Amino acid sequence: MAYEKATPEAAAELTADAKLEQLVIWLREDLVGELQAINQYQAHINQMDHPEIRSMLEHIRDDEKEHVAELTHLLTRIDAVQKMKFATDHTAAPADRVASVEDETSGLTVGNMFGQK
Ligand SMILES: [Fe+2]
Repeated sequence: MAYEKATPEAAAELTADAKLEQLVIWLREDLVGELQAINQYQAHINQMDHPEIRSMLEHIRDDEKEHVAELTHLLTRIDAVQKMKFATDHTAAPADRVASVEDETSGLTVGNMFGQK
């Protein structure tokens, strides 16, 4: 293995791997920021009495949720283990769930049970 790393091709590959690893780290950090932004907007929404401003903040909060989805999808394109983990639903069995997105008759999700957050 050490011999392979000594070749120029292997060194170039290592550099590419290192760059990819750094990118994954940055994307995870960006994801943390987006999730924190959602919580911060939600906290401000909960304290906002003005309907127009409240509506604007809800729109921005939902934009942040889209950013979470975009970053998550991007991560799964780069991190094979993460992609595999997302492919499996690790939550409770359907019969044991409080609510499900698939339950379109009620429109309930765990999030919107508390006011469409
Ligand atoms: Fe964002």
